[in-house]
Formats: sequence, structure tokens, C-alpha cells
Amino acid sequence: AEVIIVTSADDAGSLVADEIVSLVAAKPNAVLGLATGSTPLPVYRALASRRDEMDLSGVSGFALDEYVGLPASHPESYRSVITREVVEPLGLDPERVHVPNGALDTIEHAGADYEEAIIAAGGIDLQILGIGTDGHIGFNEPGSSFASRTRVKTLTKQTRRDNARFFASEDEVPMHCITQGLGTIQRARHLVLLAFGAGKARAVAGAVEGPISATLPGSALQLHERATVIVDEAAAADLK
Ligand code: F6R
Repeated sequence: AEVIIVTSADDAGSLVADEIVSLVAAKPNAVLGLATGSTPLPVYRALASRRDEMDLSGVSGFALDEYVGLPASHPESYRSVITREVVEPLGLDPERVHVPNGALDTIEHAGADYEEAIIAAGGIDLQILGIGTDGHIGFNEPGSSFASRTRVKTLTKQTRRDNARFFASEDEVPMHCITQGLGTIQRARHLVLLAFGAGKARAVAGAVEGPISATLPGSALQLHERATVIVDEAAAADLK
């Protein structure tokens, strides 16, 4: 991967926004892969401030993941988060922005449906990624297959603890999620992984320099022909 060390998360946000502005200028029907969580927020903010420079009417989006069994209307469902942080501030066409469906009654075919929708849209051009402290990308927790497609996974104790800040307590964090697989992510044409803060240093070093291993799913990046890693000094601290 190409590693870029920035002085602030806002600088990372501007860099990625530049990339997306050029992408959309060159390809008005570009397909963006959208991460949730805290990390990509500076990207979405930078993009929102540059809305007037782009025609986003033909752009589509695909979220990486969703909680299973949390109503889509819950404020912390990734459907709600994507609507609030991305669709509304950027003025994207809500019909073109997809989030895996975590509803229990359709969960059996939700993964295959999502894979089909990505293919029908022409595949993801630029996939924004964060990384978990345990090395997950999407919600592909340690042990996930490199060939995996969108499917249901169990969140690790560590991830539920990390995400408890979005809920009233750790117990309220759902046990399961539906996530694009590592094989799904691998098919995106450009991967852009962002990480900020000392808590991500070990995961970043493992993803960029560690052995390619399912025990650190982010290391799948090393198999991609176009992966960019944008980190601040603290998250870069364990790189050689
Ligand atoms: C979110 C996602 C996760 C997060 C990761 C880091 O859609 O797929 O992989 O990117 O858990 O979360 P933050 O950015 O909140 O530290």
C-alpha cells in the first residue's frame, strides 16, 4: 500500500475529498464505498463543503456494513448514520445509497442481494475504510475468509466494547452484523484506509507490514493493487 502520513484528520479528509472530486468529474456515475464509525467523518465533512464543485446526482454509494436486528429507524443503525452523515450533507440521491439490510425476516438472502446490487451498479470505484483496534475492516473480524462475500458475522467482544460509545451501554450493542466480505472489498478499484490515533497503531502496522493473515483482516490490503493508507503520526507510530 501507499502510506501517506498527515498532520491531522482534517488534512486526511481534504485529501480524500480531492480524490473523490476528481473521480466524480471523470466518472459522473461513480460508485463510492462508504464506511461508518468516527474515522471517515472528516472526509464527509470536507466533501459536504465542496458540494458546489460536483454534480453528485449520478453518484451511488454502498455502505460496508449494518447491525443485524437493530431497526433501521434506530439512530445508530448504519442506515440512519449514512443518511445523517452522508446522504443529507452531500445531497446524494437516497435511492442510490445502499446499506446492507439487517432486518431479521430477510437476512437469509440479504448478503446475496447486496452483492448483486453492487455488481448491478458497476462495482465500487473508491472504497473508504476504517480499521478496528482488532484489525477488522468492514466488520470482518479476525478469522474472516479473504474470499468472503457479504454475510452475517458475530461482533467480537472488543468491537462491541469499542462501539459502546454510540449506545447507552455495551449490552445494547447488537451481537451480529451483516458486512461486505474481504472478497467484496478486494473487488473495489481503489481502497482508501484511514486511521487516526494511537489506538490504531498496532492494527495499522499489522495491516501494512504484518504477515498477510486472516488474524488481522486489514492485511488483505497488501493483496490489492491499489490501496492507499492515510494515517496521522499517532496511528503511524508502529510502522517501521
Ligand atoms: C464501519 C466499519 C468499521 C470501522 C472500524 C473503525 O463501517 O466497517 O470497520 O471502520 O470499526 O471504527 P472507528 O472509525 O469508529 O474507529
